[in-house]
Amino acid sequence: MTSADYAEKIPNNVGLREDRRLQRALESWQPNFLDWWESMGPTLPTKDVYLRTAINVGRAGWANFGHVAMKDYRWGIFLSEHDAGRRIGFGEHKGEPAWQQVPGEYRADLRRLIVIQGDTEPASVEQQRNLGATAPSLYDLRNLFQVNVEEGRHLWAMVYLLHAYFGREGREEAEELLHRNSGSQDSPRILGAFNEETPDWLSFFMFTYFTDRDGKYQLGTLKESGFDPLSRTCEFMLREEAHHMFVGTTGVDRVVERTAQLMVEHDTDEVSALGAIDLPVIQKYLNFHYSVSLDLFGSETSTNVANYYTAGIKGRWLEDRRRDDHRLTDDSIMVDALDAGEIAETEVAALTGLNTDLRREYISDCQSGVTRWNRILASAGLSQRLALPHVAFNRKVGAFAGIEASPTGEVLPAGEWEQRKHQWLPTDVDKTHVRSLMQPVHERGKIAAWIAPPRQGINGKPFDYDYVHLS
Ligand SMILES: [Fe+2]
Ligand SMILES: [Fe+2]
Repeated sequence: MTSADYAEKIPNNVGLREDRRLQRALESWQPNFLDWWESMGPTLPTKDVYLRTAINVGRAGWANFGHVAMKDYRWGIFLSEHDAGRRIGFGEHKGEPAWQQVPGEYRADLRRLIVIQGDTEPASVEQQRNLGATAPSLYDLRNLFQVNVEEGRHLWAMVYLLHAYFGREGREEAEELLHRNSGSQDSPRILGAFNEETPDWLSFFMFTYFTDRDGKYQLGTLKESGFDPLSRTCEFMLREEAHHMFVGTTGVDRVVERTAQLMVEHDTDEVSALGAIDLPVIQKYLNFHYSVSLDLFGSETSTNVANYYTAGIKGRWLEDRRRDDHRLTDDSIMVDALDAGEIAETEVAALTGLNTDLRREYISDCQSGVTRWNRILASAGLSQRLALPHVAFNRKVGAFAGIEASPTGEVLPAGEWEQRKHQWLPTDVDKTHVRSLMQPVHERGKIAAWIAPPRQGINGKPFDYDYVHLS
């Protein structure tokens, strides 16, 4: 069950060979996926890339590394190992055996959750498609493509569930996942942050740190699902996501490190003239990506999410580590709220406040990156620090969507916000400067001037390894 079948057209560990109808359906979706990859995927022509490919879901040695042409990448369907004794861990079905089929009454909700998750995966590939042309090193280029092919595989993961468990409607949704496009006027991606551009590598690192991390938390809640195939799919996706988080965390590390280095070397705060990125500009990019990612968690309160929880289809982050009754019918939670135009909190039923619960888990995880980046500044002997902006800053969704607040959480009249927002969010001048630094370095062992090299290469290879062969 755990080892992948690579003899098949679609590598898988779900026994596709035994289900001819499903196999045919997925094989007829495959060329559409490849067309999408060719027309909406990475634009930089390459001969091959040093990529990992999932080959097994067991603990040891789940991936294979080697140079492959990206269009020949073996996107496959992998679910983590089946646990025959698994029981639902929360909600009104707590303690019942996990479902191997979709319960009729939850069909529409489960399909919706899978489509929303599935929509983000190809969206990020589309957002990042032009970044190859300006990669700061072959190492970074390889990491970009690794993230891209795995987001493609995550689309496969969701499409498998739609095809296998949701009949004709599922197949139609799978087609739609290829028809919507990031930033499109007519058929945009479902969630706002996935229609934003990723025009430069600072944005890419911030995206993989903050926005991909939202994905990690959403997958974490779906991993708890009583619908076992969804749970197992998400569990394996989370393993791949760890590398995406790594790319974001260490990417920002290296930008901060280079900026700090030049600040000290030249005894100046203005490193833009030296071909790097000023610390306040890094802060503005952080402010932007963090605030749009907070919006992805939806409103502070949600009856839909309460229903998902009670139904057992979407749990909490690390559900089994929570020390409560896992039903939450009698509990309450304080959530962010607006009280007469002021930032406040209000008490609501724990079930309706589950979005807030998840967002708080996410926020404390985000803080760990900022702490890490500040350690880099401190060890360079600098007194400047980065910070997460206030939760009310630059919000378009939820309790604070109707107000403007500074990064320190001061409510501002609209006029003042307009006057001051250029201090907090990237301006056209900032973006133009960052973009001007994005000159490609496609030479082995070389690195752009605005970023420090990584401490280690990939899979034990050195930094100057030939990670990518351009065509
Ligand atoms: Fe993903
Ligand atoms: Fe990801």
